[in-house]
Amino acid sequence: MNKEHGRTAVRSIVGLVGVAVGAMLPLAAAHAAEKVKVGLMLPYTGTYAALGTAITNGFKQYVAEQGGMLAGREVEYFVVDDESNPAKATENANKLVKRDEVDVLVGTVHSGVALAMAKVARDSKTLMIIPNAGADELTGPLCAPNVFRTSFTNWQPAYAMGKVAAERGHKTAVTLTWKYAAGEQAVNGFADAFKGAGGKVLKQLTLPFPGVEFQPYLTEIASLKPDAVYVFFAGGGAVKFVKDYDAAGLKSSIPLYSSGFLTDGTLGAMGGAGEGLLTALQYADGLDVAKDKDFRSAYAASYKMQPDVYAVQGYDAAQLLKSGLDAVKTGKLEQGAMIKAMESATIDSPRGAFTLSKAHNPVQDIYLRKAEGEENKVVGVAAGKLADPARGCRM
Ligand code: PHB
Repeated sequence: MNKEHGRTAVRSIVGLVGVAVGAMLPLAAAHAAEKVKVGLMLPYTGTYAALGTAITNGFKQYVAEQGGMLAGREVEYFVVDDESNPAKATENANKLVKRDEVDVLVGTVHSGVALAMAKVARDSKTLMIIPNAGADELTGPLCAPNVFRTSFTNWQPAYAMGKVAAERGHKTAVTLTWKYAAGEQAVNGFADAFKGAGGKVLKQLTLPFPGVEFQPYLTEIASLKPDAVYVFFAGGGAVKFVKDYDAAGLKSSIPLYSSGFLTDGTLGAMGGAGEGLLTALQYADGLDVAKDKDFRSAYAASYKMQPDVYAVQGYDAAQLLKSGLDAVKTGKLEQGAMIKAMESATIDSPRGAFTLSKAHNPVQDIYLRKAEGEENKVVGVAAGKLADPARGCRM
């Protein structure tokens, strides 16, 4: 019996009991909706720990704003720390799907972990909402009706940054990143736009994830003397990289560009080394978006810190789930109806409202931001309403 049938059988029994009990209850109680079981599979330890926490905070903030329920349903959480470890990803996802029988998988941060998680979601037909991981395949060749993303593809902010670097007159660049899906795809996105505008990528440097021994790479960059450097790093590794780039004296001689993950939630820990950096991302500080102002003051009041892009993506994952649940007001969570509603949802995001592409990825403005103090202040729009090309998605 597959999971869907197993669940239907269990629900039928519950349903029969429900009918018997319902006959004795007032109408409202008899129609009470089943709860929704949410599996949060995120990193709570390791280099991406702060990112997993911010996503969780954002998700729970939206649920709290809805009175602790989503579309009238109680939310029950099941939580797994995925440690950003792809080797444990299938087992971790199965804990949520098979053991806990969650209705929806929400996760994760790391692209490699998300790829394994999405396979479990596809095979078990469990609804999945990705609140960060940018692996291009997830809304490309591996796109699926039950897999949605409220964040970005690795290509999106990187492409926008490559466009801006070329517009700023740079002709040559060197790239550096961790050797795994997110870093490699980000570098490709940057190169797509930079080369498309006539620029040349002199060398693509990589080191293993989550390594932070940057010195040999900085020495190589200094000797290659490119016009600009593009990197993809995030979390704890981003803090160490920017400090090292500054300490090596490169920050003042070779402009450093990145997808905004480099400086989101990390500027404080960089202790000034990130000041002035230009990055591209789907969120920024100082946006003129009414929803953002409310979101930020509520977030600061609840969590005693400022939100970042990860918190926004978690908040929007809960919003997207609510759109689906709105279509199945009572009783069973009919997945087909939920998917249809989610596909046509407009998400009232703090980043600015967005809709989803046919491949289930946000079509969104990518902002150009400048680091000032602990903020990534919006400077302009690097690429407006940017849709990922979704190469290879047949849906
Ligand atoms: C990813 O692995 O897709 C990833 C991780 C951290 C980020 C962004 C993307 O900040």
